Amino acid sequence: MADILYGGLSIRRLNHRSRVSSFCCKEDDLNDFIKNDALIAHSNMTSRTYLCYLNGIVVGFATLAAATIEVKSVEEPPIEGYTPKTYPCIKLARFAVDKNYEGKGIGPYLLRWVMGKFYQISDEIGCRYITVDSKKRSMWFYEKHDFTLVEKTRNKLHPVFYLDMCDEGDGTIPIPDPLLKMAIISDQSIPWRTRVIIVMNLRLDT
Ligand SMILES: CC(C)(COP(=O)(O)OP(=O)(O)OC[C@H]1O[C@@H](n2cnc3c(N)ncnc32)[C@H](O)[C@@H]1OP(=O)(O)O)[C@@H](O)C(=O)NCCC(=O)NCCS
Repeated sequence: MADILYGGLSIRRLNHRSRVSSFCCKEDDLNDFIKNDALIAHSNMTSRTYLCYLNGIVVGFATLAAATIEVKSVEEPPIEGYTPKTYPCIKLARFAVDKNYEGKGIGPYLLRWVMGKFYQISDEIGCRYITVDSKKRSMWFYEKHDFTLVEKTRNKLHPVFYLDMCDEGDGTIPIPDPLLKMAIISDQSIPWRTRVIIVMNLRLDT
């Protein structure tokens, strides 16, 4: 059950002053990545990492990269008239919550923030899905948040999930809950004017 006051969370982009040394999640490779590789990936422009803070402590992070997913990996029929063999995506390349802060709703919060970032990017550059190469023991998390498993990858080391971010086509954005609105408002990496525009364009279904 979430017991974190979402107003206390904020997101900032990783930089060379970020203090990540105390971060510790259950997956060693993710701890290694955030401490040793994430900044190098920034320099190489292969991914961008965003840190989630609670009272000045890094409690989670999300790493994003451009990616594609094969049209034939998606369950829905191909988009009419779309000829490329892949769809453009944003990939959740790394995603973790500190083990001392698990089960408090930080993962869902960070995921909503990723959705907000997706809409910001997809407004400028065509982009349809969020994808993730899941860890086996985190599959429940993506299932719980309505991602679809690419069935042929089920038994792979990193099963692939995707989330279709497109609405029925009326130009508004389908949002599962108001948490996303909160995540966007608190995102200090987005200029406040942009935040206002994104939030005004959301259609909250709840
Ligand atoms: C997966 C992860 C991001 C989830 O983050 P989180 O902030 O703990 O997420 P939540 O707060 O929603 O988790 C708690 C909820 O999940 C449920 N849950 C926990 N483990 C579960 C499991 N194995 N199966 C189903 N539900 C589970 C809890 O019961 C709780 O549900 P509730 O909100 O209804 O009470 C976090 O556990 C993590 O960082 N794991 C290690 C790194 C990792 O695997 N990252 C993903 C790599 S692809």
